[in-house]
Amino acid sequence: MKYDFDCVYDRKKTDCYKWDLAPHLFGHEDVIPMWVADMDFPTAQPVVDALKERAEHPFYGYTHPGPSVVDSVVERMKRKFNWEIEGEWVVFTPGVVPALHTAIRSLTHPGDGVIMQQPAYHPFFPAVTGSGCQIVNNNLKLVDGRYYQDFEDLENKFLPQTGRLRRPPRIKTILFCNPHNPVGRLWNVDEITRVGEIALDNGIPVISDEIHCELLFKGYKHTPFATISEEFEQNSITCMSPSKTFNLPGLAVSSIIIPNKKLREGFKEIASGIVSEPNLFGFTALEASYRHGDEWLDQVLDYLQGNLDLLMEYTEANIPGVKIIEPQGSYLIWIDFRGLGMDPLDLGKFMLDEAKVALEDGFIFGEAGNGFMRMNIACPRPILKEALKRIEQAVNNL
Ligand SMILES: Cc1ncc(COP(=O)(O)O)c(C=O)c1O
Repeated sequence: MKYDFDCVYDRKKTDCYKWDLAPHLFGHEDVIPMWVADMDFPTAQPVVDALKERAEHPFYGYTHPGPSVVDSVVERMKRKFNWEIEGEWVVFTPGVVPALHTAIRSLTHPGDGVIMQQPAYHPFFPAVTGSGCQIVNNNLKLVDGRYYQDFEDLENKFLPQTGRLRRPPRIKTILFCNPHNPVGRLWNVDEITRVGEIALDNGIPVISDEIHCELLFKGYKHTPFATISEEFEQNSITCMSPSKTFNLPGLAVSSIIIPNKKLREGFKEIASGIVSEPNLFGFTALEASYRHGDEWLDQVLDYLQGNLDLLMEYTEANIPGVKIIEPQGSYLIWIDFRGLGMDPLDLGKFMLDEAKVALEDGFIFGEAGNGFMRMNIACPRPILKEALKRIEQAVNNL
């Protein structure tokens, strides 16, 4: 089946965050919403068909993930990443964010430290602080338009700190994000290995958020953290989900892969009674997308590549002072507006008031995001073109 991603659908009045909340959040009726991470494309037809079929059976009682649902995750990990997992390693949660909170609570005590690599996905902050823990920041390094890990700084975090009045928190885990939201880096095998070895050397497990792992630009291949070695596998909690890949976040379903029995039992204990299982439509959509969604996904990836090419070329040619950080994965694009010389607060206001485009403010991803903004390009190309024209005009009027 050929999908038409150029088609602009009206998503208003569907209780959708992106379009229905935009006027309230951003104070304008006519902003183009390019903020929250969902796509303005209908999902794969096999998912719609499976949901309709399930909805026709009018019993929506308590549901558990049956063997076929679990197998669809096991098979996908094998097919996509050559990762052989066992069904019992998979814990289903109604989203990755609740899983992050659960994982942190299962690995820490209040007062402990959790490493974050900023700029970082903003819900990471409350996941750490809401668990009573302290953020230990290992900023990424920006060199010649590309972000890198700062391994030296990461190693230093574990050294005894002398001359400080307050004792630093004991670091208990690291929130690793691959591909990285917001900077779009896909960490390579060497980078993943180094992070994992530092974690092993210091006896801390890694929480690896890999929700964007199937959204890659041309020529890139994702390596799950846990596939580097058996030791890494036993020392990790990997967050996977079809929700970004197949545009299903409203169905709230994710699979958390925890090979280590002790870590898994700890996770389940914290989750029990607080974090529910996904609802039955989430399971239906997960299985249908994992088993039958690839034709759609291939086409979406081609389309996103086209959008990225347009964004890069248009910005370079027409919008002075603005630089795209070339992503390797995810459809969330990190843009450097520092060349405009604006205060971070003014920058967001400028985009809304003058360009009428709603991007995510860079500073919500931590101080390292000052002067940057994040743009969601998972939209029909006519919308992207209009947004670029608006930004160009606003910048040129400055
Ligand atoms: C890195 C990352 N983790 C988690 C999520 C959200 O996960 P969920 O909607 O499954 O809670 C997002 C959404 O954008 C994300 O970018």
